[in-house]
Amino acid sequence: MPTVSSVLTELVAEAAERAGHGGVLDEVEPARPASDPRFGDYQSNHAFRLGRALRTNPRAVAEAVRAALAEHPGVASVEVAGPGFLNFRLDDGWIGARLGEMVRDPALFVEQSGAGRTVVIDYSSPNVAKRMHVGHMRSTIIGNTLDRLYRATGWRVVADNHVGDWGTQYGKLIVAWRRWLDREAFEADPLGELERLYVRFGREAEADPALLDEARAETAKLQAGDPENRALWERFRAVSLEEFEAVYERLHVRFDETLGESAYHDELAGTVQALLDLGVAEESEGAVVVKFPADEVEGRRFKGLADTVLVIRKKDGAFLYGTTDLATLEYRRRTWAPDEVVYVTDVRQQLHFKQVFAAWRRWARARGLDPDRPSLVHTWFGMLVLPEGSMSSRKGNVVRLVDLLDEAVRRARAVVDEKSPHLSEAERARIAEAVGVGAVRYADLSQNPQSNVTFDWDRMLALDGNTAPYLLYTHARCRSLLARAAGEGAEVGEAVRIGEPLERELALRLLRFPEAVSLALAHGRPNLLCDQLYETANVFNRFYYEVPVLRAGDAATVASRLALVEAAATVMRRGLELLGIEVLDRM
Ligand code: ARG
Repeated sequence: MPTVSSVLTELVAEAAERAGHGGVLDEVEPARPASDPRFGDYQSNHAFRLGRALRTNPRAVAEAVRAALAEHPGVASVEVAGPGFLNFRLDDGWIGARLGEMVRDPALFVEQSGAGRTVVIDYSSPNVAKRMHVGHMRSTIIGNTLDRLYRATGWRVVADNHVGDWGTQYGKLIVAWRRWLDREAFEADPLGELERLYVRFGREAEADPALLDEARAETAKLQAGDPENRALWERFRAVSLEEFEAVYERLHVRFDETLGESAYHDELAGTVQALLDLGVAEESEGAVVVKFPADEVEGRRFKGLADTVLVIRKKDGAFLYGTTDLATLEYRRRTWAPDEVVYVTDVRQQLHFKQVFAAWRRWARARGLDPDRPSLVHTWFGMLVLPEGSMSSRKGNVVRLVDLLDEAVRRARAVVDEKSPHLSEAERARIAEAVGVGAVRYADLSQNPQSNVTFDWDRMLALDGNTAPYLLYTHARCRSLLARAAGEGAEVGEAVRIGEPLERELALRLLRFPEAVSLALAHGRPNLLCDQLYETANVFNRFYYEVPVLRAGDAATVASRLALVEAAATVMRRGLELLGIEVLDRM
């Protein structure tokens, strides 16, 4: 079922065609919700664009398009405004009926633009033998939300956790393990002990550089399949994944695949050889590199790439991060034939992915493959800044993700204890977990991913403002109103009948939900969905305070308003679900 925006966009496109302007523009400018409700509910700038393209008076084009518009039950009136905008006012009866249809559609009218298409999303991807830190948190939360948005729009998604589980650090860890392991500490806190061993190795190797040679030898043995080293490495990996899994569970994250860097070890030599044979890579001072000369670098997407090099084999024969990424991409292409591959990491890896993408495209061309399929997307995000002194971090400024979640839940618990002392201990604990974890996810998602995010505990846990607690609370308010209605035997209507202006405003706002989902995905910006939910909560709360529901008088009005409340609950629940936030029926 199309959204309001696509219904109107289509109407305008047809009218433009009838007015003799079909094919003037490649794309139809989509109708958007009007910024000022005084001018209408939706606005289309398509006729204006046409007028500009035709070098005639856009207003005259808009008049002609308006005259050619077909009758539509949803459109109450259309006006030409300003230099040539079309302003639509929607029909109240249609709005109510449409909303009823939307909430009965399991997809809530979200356009299934990904049907038949496959995307691989590479996110979270922490490094083994280290604890996940807050830098991995943003990748996990943003990546998982994109994962949900892709699924909601019909894509087949392969969520792949590309963990860093290979490389020279494991040789160091093996050396350190044999010399300094504190077995008891390892039993109690495996990753804590592995981190300690790694740090200790660094310190000792400064005084005794021979340790580095020893570590190199152990890495080589590991990579050659030495059973003892292999067993140790597997143990490091297993305890790490177990701990990551605990964090993922709390964040409501699950992967389809956890194919770490190690999975590609056997492909690396062949990948480098293939790139050399095809002339994509070349030897340079004993190493193998892919060069990006300025005159060959394509387009704005690749800005900053010119005259850089990607080393894929070092002089000593070692392979690198980029080598693995190229081999991984080849594996993904062969295994899932994806239409798109999305990488979610912080801003600092921008150059890395430009290099990998450009090298890949060259490799694809050299093999006669379509360089645009899969399309490669690096969704990068800014840094996460923790407020000064907000949490004691045990080592330097690396705050661990578990500690951050625990802190959020602890603070949420204090609020829940104060507000809802009547609830049982177990229920308060459950609410605090949902609110605390939800607040962390939402604080991250509600800002433009590309800006830096500062965590402000008080703000992110506030019951008002653009926060998870506010949205969760508003959703719970809908549910408790519906529960009260059920208790009184009041019936929830099938359709919404628009009467009060606030009913209209709320219904229109709810109808925008599927548009917001598509927009958030198209721009890789979950915050656009957050904004939609926040505005929904705001309108709902105004409605709640100003328009009587259970005391509306006649049964038909009560039923219609309850239908509206139920629609609001449905949209909020689905929206929070897409953000990976667990909803509560009461708080
Ligand atoms: N393990 C890397 C890190 O912690 C992130 C990997 C991102 N994915 C990729 N295919 N390179 O920085």
